[in-house]
Formats: sequence, C-alpha cells, structure tokens
Amino acid sequence: MPENHALWLPKKRRSFEVGSAPYPTPGLNEIVVRNRAVGLNLIDGIPRLAYRLVLPWLTFPAVVGQDVAGEIEAVGSGSHDLTVGDRVLGHALGTEKSINRASQGGFQEYVILKAHMVSRIPDFLSFERAAVLPLQLSTAASGMFQANGLALVLPTADPIDRDETVLVWGGSTGVGSNAIQLARNAGYRVVATASPRNFEYLQTLGADEVVDRNSPTAVKELVTAIGDRFLAGSVAIGNGSLPKVMKVAARVAGSRRVSSSAPAILTHLSAWRVPRGVCVSGIWGGSLKDNEVGPAIYNDFLPAALGTGAYQAQPPAEVVGSGLRAIPAGLERLRHGVSAKKLVITL
Ligand SMILES: NC(=O)c1ccc[n+]([C@@H]2O[C@H](COP(=O)([O-])OP(=O)(O)OC[C@H]3O[C@@H](n4cnc5c(N)ncnc54)[C@H](OP(=O)(O)O)[C@@H]3O)[C@@H](O)[C@H]2O)c1
Repeated sequence: MPENHALWLPKKRRSFEVGSAPYPTPGLNEIVVRNRAVGLNLIDGIPRLAYRLVLPWLTFPAVVGQDVAGEIEAVGSGSHDLTVGDRVLGHALGTEKSINRASQGGFQEYVILKAHMVSRIPDFLSFERAAVLPLQLSTAASGMFQANGLALVLPTADPIDRDETVLVWGGSTGVGSNAIQLARNAGYRVVATASPRNFEYLQTLGADEVVDRNSPTAVKELVTAIGDRFLAGSVAIGNGSLPKVMKVAARVAGSRRVSSSAPAILTHLSAWRVPRGVCVSGIWGGSLKDNEVGPAIYNDFLPAALGTGAYQAQPPAEVVGSGLRAIPAGLERLRHGVSAKKLVITL
C-alpha cells in the first residue's frame, strides 16, 4: 500500500504542518484519487478563528483544500462508471458539515472523493489546468441551478438559444468565469461586469456585453445592456456587488432572483434594504453535492463539454509551487489578491 502524506491543520497550532496520513479506503460511491495538482481558495487559508466562524463543525487535526485533479487509484462499489487510472478533477468535500473527515480534504496525496462530484478530463487537459475548476464551478452552479437559487435551466451539450439574459457581476472572478460559461452552455445571453483589463477575457468566456464594475454609472449601463430582454436571474460576486445587482434586478423585466456568492448569513447582513419584489439568496459552494445539480454538472455535463472545448478550465492556472509544503506560501500569496487567475500547486 502506498504511503500517504497530508498538509495537516493541527489541533493546537495555528500553522499547517506536513505529516503522514492514513492511506484511504473508498466506501460506497467513493473513489481514491492520487492528487497531481490542487487549486487554492481563500477559504483554505483563513485564520484559525475564522474557521470557527465559517466552519464551526470542523474537527482538528483537519485537512482542508477543495480543488483537486489526478488519477483514480481505487474505486468503491456503487453506481458509477469511474475506473482505476482515469484522469479526473473533483470537488473534495472533507470540510463540509455532513462529512467533516480529514480523509476527504484536498491537501493530501491520496484523497477520497464522492463519485458524483468527479469529472473525467480529456487527455489534452493538464492536471494543473483542471484543478482550477471545482469549488468555483460548484459555487456558480449551486447559485444558478438549485431550486433555492436562480433555478435556471441546466447546461447541456446542445443548448437552445433562450433569448433571456443572466447577469453576472464579478465575471473575472473564478466563480464568475464559471457562471458565465455555465449560463452560455444553458443557452442564456450573458451581461457581466469586470475591470476593463478583463473585458476581452470575459468575451472569450462567452459574455455578450461587459460593463466596468468600477464605473459610477454601472447600474444604468447594465440596465441598458439587458434592454427589453427578459432577465432570467442575477449572480452577485464580490464585496459591494449585492446592492448594485439588486438595483438592476428591480429595474428590468424578468426574474428578480439574485444569488449572492457570500454564504446566507453574510448575504442577509448586506441585503438589509432589498427593493420590492427582489429575492436574495446566499450560496454555499458545497450544497450541490446533496441534490441533482452535483451529478448533473460533474458527471453529465462537464466531461463532454471539456472534451469539445464548449467549457474551458478557466481562469488560467498559475503554478506557484510544488509539493504539500508549498501550499501555505501559495495561500499567503492568494491573500494579496489575484485577477483572472487561479493559483495552483502541483503534487
Ligand atoms: N459561498 C461560497 O461557497 C463561496 C465559494 C467560493 C468563493 N466564494 C466567494 O466568491 C467570491 C469570488 O471568489 P473567487 O475565488 O472566484 O475570486 P477570485 O478569483 O479570487 O477573484 C479575483 C477577481 O475579483 C475581482 N474583484 C475584486 N474585488 C471585487 C469586487 N468588490 N466586486 C467584484 N469583483 C471583484 C477582480 O476582478 P477585476 O480584476 O476584473 O476587477 C479579480 O479578478 C469571493 O467573495 C469569495 O469569498 C464563495
């Protein structure tokens, strides 16, 4: 049996440390992946006190990390068609309340993943590039397709043109890059915001119109860009985005549902003055694991869409180190901010 190592978050100390970890055995509908690359997210590097607030159930020592890509090493029984040797990406769910297991945390060499939250990837897609997707894809998909979010039509290989618009504020974030692509692959027209340096990037993702998020007239410009077309729903990503998105939703024809990338409690704190008729919900990026959206995205849609190029592994990966020991420095760098980029560590 191979040896496993993990980046542990110990019970008493504040900093991560690399140590040995049990080699995992997959259960029903689970697989074991030999990680080759992990993507970094802000939540992975928050201070210990913040873990107590955001993930109060987390037991220590813990293994955090959600974005992984690698080869399948072992498969558990169950109803899936994944096999040993498949190249995959997956959303590692070890920090979710209903799981709370170190064996399912992403920052280790061998990780257990739920088969319905795993996608096969094409040979041309490197593990580094594939590892950019999971949490940001899951967050966008949870907010857009769940019944408690925008309840949009799911993406398919052959979407019909709906002549309805989805508004994505914060289109150059990782979550926004996925929201734009998901909406386009579901047949929606996309109006988005970003800084001007990222306009061209958003257009390559499929955005039809892009507005400068820092413009003092951004709300008015978005209302004009949406025009007479029906608004199917809006996604508000980034600090300060929610009040502006609510204003747009209140001023155009269509759905007044707004999904905010902040979790429910923070969303409700920042949405204290909600325009009449507007309905706001916060997103929890792991929630799709418990409903039909998870397998619809990871098993049914993504593998083929990555293969044909209909879906791109975006934002672009920047490899900032190799090995578990490189992860803390990568997280520190992420804290200083990135623009249209995802930091990745190879393992
Ligand atoms: N609820 C969940 O489960 C969950 C999960 C993951 C992420 N999130 C949240 O989703 C948001 C995006 O996360 P991410 O990892 O995708 O971000 P990211 O890729 O790190 O975002 C970087 C981008 O943010 C844009 N940006 C900076 N400040 C902004 C603002 N005030 N409004 C709009 N855009 C802004 C910048 O765009 P320009 O350079 O174009 O200006 C930059 O390109 C964060 O707030 C994060 O906390 C929530």
